[in-house]
Amino acid sequence: MMRDLILVTGGSGFIGANFILQWLQTAGSPVVNLDLLTYAGNPHNLASLRGHSRYHFVHGDICDADLVASLLRAHRPRALVHFAAESHVDRSIHSPAAFLRTNVEGACILLEQARLYWSALPPAERAAFRFLNISTDEIYGSLDPGGQPFTEAAPAAPSSPYAASKAAAAAFARAYFHTWSLPVLTTVCSNNYGPFQFPEKLIPLTLLNALHGRPVPLYGDGRHLRDWLFVDDHCAALRAVLHHGSPGQIYNIGAGSPRANLDVVTALCDLLDEMAPPLPTGPRRNLIAFVADRPGHDRRYALDSSRIARELGWLPAVSFAEGLRRTVRWYLDHPDWIETTRNPSHLGWLARQYGPGAAS
Ligand code: NAD
Ligand code: DAU
Repeated sequence: MMRDLILVTGGSGFIGANFILQWLQTAGSPVVNLDLLTYAGNPHNLASLRGHSRYHFVHGDICDADLVASLLRAHRPRALVHFAAESHVDRSIHSPAAFLRTNVEGACILLEQARLYWSALPPAERAAFRFLNISTDEIYGSLDPGGQPFTEAAPAAPSSPYAASKAAAAAFARAYFHTWSLPVLTTVCSNNYGPFQFPEKLIPLTLLNALHGRPVPLYGDGRHLRDWLFVDDHCAALRAVLHHGSPGQIYNIGAGSPRANLDVVTALCDLLDEMAPPLPTGPRRNLIAFVADRPGHDRRYALDSSRIARELGWLPAVSFAEGLRRTVRWYLDHPDWIETTRNPSHLGWLARQYGPGAAS
């Protein structure tokens, strides 16, 4: 008999870990987490679940078809929630091959193994099964200054190797629905921030650099617009889509409050001046340093999230001001967690991208 269990991939990363913690506190059914623990995957993110009766961790690769098949056979999940990915745009510009392997090949292996598992299920269980593919607003590419926010009908126009790999995965997910009726749901979300975000991304990188008085690198003119969504809101949207979404459908998930990068890092510096010990060198906003732009840097992202609001009743609950304050508090309270992110791959990346002093 199929259980209410869900199989999550990439649950030891930033959003996956927040999702599993929220899932076990709310929906409550068992979770199996398949994660390779790459440089961005961190077992400490889910340390609070050690010994939890409804949580099971499997250390493995989504590209291992035999492993995926055996997990589906053994656990008989009612849903596969797919987060696992190489997720950092700048890394994709330096090393695109890893993005092709994990984000495209890995997604295809999961879709194929899910199809084989699902097609052999009894009718009621087949009808209940869902494959939730977590995607990103980057698949739509950059939005013109006066353009209307992207709806789910926007064509794919990815700019970076990361975005291209996620667009390819979304295209395969769509093909599995249209060709075999595999009940795939795709979510397209804007920039997340919050606890457990790996400190290669703008908000945690800025937070840690500014905290310790290091330069805060801002690409280009710092006027690029991103729509920041607190991670708990993203996870709540994913639960709504999983429970009530229509198979084959795409759901945009955005906060609807775009901000320029310069405004984000300035707000973070000011919050740190308020919440952390002052620096002898003066206000932290003086640490902001304009550096060379990211190649192919998308100028603006903005999503029309009216479908998920209208059809599933989801709206973001956490304002940017509140979410940023909660994020700063969390990082200030978790210096031990920050230490666990300082692995050789990440330190090597910081030195390569920002210069030797950046990894200090
Ligand atoms: P992350 O980099 O923090 O975590 C990725 C996780 O996937 C890690 O735990 C890693 O160990 C795991 N992983 C990588 N390769 C794997 C493999 N081959 N097999 C098994 N596990 C593997 O990423 P994140 O920011 O939490 O993003 C999660 C998902 O959400 C990604 O699919 C990403 O594209 C998407 N997304 C992210 C954002 C954002 O702002 N962070 C926004 C929209 C969508
Ligand atoms: O939009 C959703 C996407 O958001 C996700 O799909 C990606 O997985 C996630 O990494 C994120 O991509 P971005 O490229 O938007 O996020 P990042 O934090 O890398 O950068 C945010 C903005 O800040 C972007 O305009 C680039 C800029 N930036 C980033 C870094 C790391 C800087 O100016 N300096 C930096 O050092």
